[in-house]
Amino acid sequence: MRINLANIKKAEKLLNKSECVAIPTETVYGLAGNAYSDQACKKIFKLKKRPKNNPLIVHYYNYQKLAKDCNLNDNFYKLYKKFCPGPITFILRLRKKSKISKFVTNKKKSLAVRFPRHPITRTLLKKLTFPLAAPSANISSKLSAVCTSDVKEEFGKKIKYILEGGKSSIGLESTIIDLRYTPKILRLGGLEVTQIQKIFRQKIFIVKNPLKVISPGQFKLHYSPDMPIRLNVKKINSSEAFLLIRKKKENKPNYFYLSKNGNLKEAAKNLYTTLRKIKNSKYDSIAVSKIPEKGLGKTINDRLKRASKF
Ligand code: TXA
Ligand code: MG
Repeated sequence: MRINLANIKKAEKLLNKSECVAIPTETVYGLAGNAYSDQACKKIFKLKKRPKNNPLIVHYYNYQKLAKDCNLNDNFYKLYKKFCPGPITFILRLRKKSKISKFVTNKKKSLAVRFPRHPITRTLLKKLTFPLAAPSANISSKLSAVCTSDVKEEFGKKIKYILEGGKSSIGLESTIIDLRYTPKILRLGGLEVTQIQKIFRQKIFIVKNPLKVISPGQFKLHYSPDMPIRLNVKKINSSEAFLLIRKKKENKPNYFYLSKNGNLKEAAKNLYTTLRKIKNSKYDSIAVSKIPEKGLGKTINDRLKRASKF
């Protein structure tokens, strides 16, 4: 991807003034603001209509910049060396001296941090004198955005600038791992848990409903295309869109393929785009054929399950 420095400069100028800018990452687009600025962080919550008690992820260029804000431990360094920059988010202890806005953490003592791999956002992060708070660039509980037109569809003219970065190459949010105690997974994501297990040479516990831990009773519905979803479907109804993982012999206008041949990486990349396409068409519900519970299929199933709690 060509890096347009004039575009990055424009984003930098706005961010320096505590404005919000959408940024590309390899997972999904983020709605970014200066993580040290109360004003910028308040704007993010408002634009996203996000409940104030749902903390923000903060994006850094490298661990040297992060060391000012968080306590880093051996498990962090092990994973950082192997997977960063990339689709993994760490929950770490916030340092007392940290300059992170209290709005980011909802006054909690932990921080979610990530080092995105997208070259445009890396160039931007390198130039800035502060890290970027950037939750996914969608209205709270709705479908995530994987290209600039998705971001426009979510926010219209309310957003000052969208930094163009093409389509997100992974298409699913980062995997979240809590490293404050014994490592545990808080969200399945773009990095397979088996990869992380290889580094630690042991199984890692996956928390079933982490959002309950952060703030009980909130956020039941997520990643929603605003219509009912049925999972593991063999036979569909005539008014349904059918979401499939591989091409069938018979092709019908209401068949939507995540991949031609069941490739789960390709399916992950196409998930949100396809759900958005269905959302903007005439169908009143979505039927999903069985998706294998392995590799990124686990993350796809996780997202569809959360989206189906209509
Ligand atoms: O791939 C990604 O992670 C994307 C890109 C833009 O980086 N970001 C993203 O952000 O998915 P968001 O805000 O949509 O999801 C972050 C999740 C939320 O569910 C939030 O509750 C959780 O991270 N989170 C944030 N801070 C946390 C903390 N201190 N402890 C536990 N969970 C936290
Ligand atoms: Mg999100």
